[in-house]
Amino acid sequence: MTRLRWIGLIVLIAVALAIAMAYRPAIAETPRPDPRAFAPAVVARGANLARLGNCVSCHQAAAGKPYAGGYPIKTAFGTIYGSNITPDADTGIGRWSPAAFRRAMRDGVGRDGSHLYPAFPYTHYAAVTDADIDALYAFLMTRPAVRATPPANEMIPPLGFRPLLAGWKLLFHRPRPVQPDATQSAAWNRGRYIGETLAHCTACHSPRGLLQQEKRGAKAYDGGWSGGWYAPPINARSPAVRAWTVERMNTYLRTGLSRHHAAAAGPMGPVTYNLARADPADVRALAIYYAWWMRDAPAARREPLLPDRIALATRRHPAAARLYTGACAVCHESSAAMMVAGRPALPLGTPLHEDNPRDTIQVILQGVRPPVSAGGPFMPAYADMLDDRQVAEIVAYLQARHGTGPAWPDLEAEVAKARKEAQ
Ligand code: HEC
Ligand code: HEC
Ligand code: HEC
Repeated sequence: MTRLRWIGLIVLIAVALAIAMAYRPAIAETPRPDPRAFAPAVVARGANLARLGNCVSCHQAAAGKPYAGGYPIKTAFGTIYGSNITPDADTGIGRWSPAAFRRAMRDGVGRDGSHLYPAFPYTHYAAVTDADIDALYAFLMTRPAVRATPPANEMIPPLGFRPLLAGWKLLFHRPRPVQPDATQSAAWNRGRYIGETLAHCTACHSPRGLLQQEKRGAKAYDGGWSGGWYAPPINARSPAVRAWTVERMNTYLRTGLSRHHAAAAGPMGPVTYNLARADPADVRALAIYYAWWMRDAPAARREPLLPDRIALATRRHPAAARLYTGACAVCHESSAAMMVAGRPALPLGTPLHEDNPRDTIQVILQGVRPPVSAGGPFMPAYADMLDDRQVAEIVAYLQARHGTGPAWPDLEAEVAKARKEAQ
């Protein structure tokens, strides 16, 4: 009995210690700052940083106002909703001081002291400079205040208990400033600073561990998952069949389309939407930095010939070939009567050459919405028109015809999974 009591006491002390370590004080409320108090140049700088940081993508619901929150982010641990970060005093961050905002961006702690989920990419924002964080604050505080409360998060128990996040941070949140590399150009260094911090490109393009922590080092940019899509490697393992040069990357990031590759579909669409509205010099810096990451990719060394094995593919998948001719060829064959301006040929896109079929499947299920402006590339969604089997057969047909890797197995199950994980 005494022994049990001792164990109980030790457990109690451990829990108390953990809670004490997780504790962060609230930062006092301040009156909402007068929007006229911020210098216009600082606000403009913040606007550019917000676009580079893609803030609106997670902080605007489908039918909601910009920055008013409510966008659902599905994770393996539940659904987390982007907060209202307009300056509304009651439902937004209107009463946050610059210090409270800075702590949220660096440490992932809310004004009231609660730990925030890393779905908010503070692990990247931690390395943003003070001046840039203050400019973002000035930008947000001069937006229209919107009264809106996002839905409550739906986490699997016990992960709704925020102090647990202190443990996660202890393990994985290691803020490090981005050190300039003197051997590289100023533009390269600017691209690295933006890409590794605000633009958080690794958040989707790097694989994650069991607890959703990003893998770094040799695994950086080695391909990851986002909203049911696959963000392919953008390092030396890039499966692209056409080189990602600085010019091509710059065009892709600024227009959502590279005529040497394909359109930015799925979660990459909003990234390009925001970059199209950011400072062109900053986007070019990103292009310089990421073309550098892909300088040793196979296509950067030699672009393969892309055969069209139409006879073989038709023999193997006759039903899919008929479906394709009826539903897809109108846009995707070079003889197509209805050519879509600037649409690249199917085999040039990276999806058909990835080591998994996910992006090819999602493009067919969800189509392509013009990523940057209404006149951009468009493809209808087939999720309601084709069943899992039909999508699987078309994918098998396309891969047999144009693919460069081994045939993808279990396609029907993959389609079902892709439907389930779609956001
Ligand atoms: C990938 C999605 C994502 C992006 C991009 C993103 N956020 Fe968030 N943010 C979230 C989520 C989710 C939360 C809520 C986290 C929680 O409830 O623990 C959040 C919370 C916040 C909070 C805390 C608000 C509060 O009331 O506690 C601030 C401040 C914030 N974000 C600012 C920004 C800024 C500024 C940017 C752009 C530089 C940005 N966020 C980009 C997902 C995102
Ligand atoms: C929200 C998740 C997300 C973020 C953030 C993101 N990407 Fe992507 N990216 C994707 C997905 C998903 C795809 C595949 C889309 C497709 O097939 O059209 C993709 C595709 C790409 C491609 C095309 C690769 C190829 O070979 O076709 C490039 C290049 C790229 N991203 C670069 C970037 C850069 C640079 C950044 C940071 C500025 C970035 N991405 C941020 C999700 C993301
Ligand atoms: C209205 C024209 C249109 C129709 C119809 C259409 N697509 Fe597309 N498709 C596009 C456009 C535009 C894009 C984006 C530009 C690009 O990536 O080639 C695209 C992209 C794709 C991609 C990804 C890009 C790549 O190169 O890998 C795939 C795969 C694809 N379509 C397959 C299909 C299939 C299968 C069908 C029929 C079920 C179909 N499309 C019907 C216009 C169309």
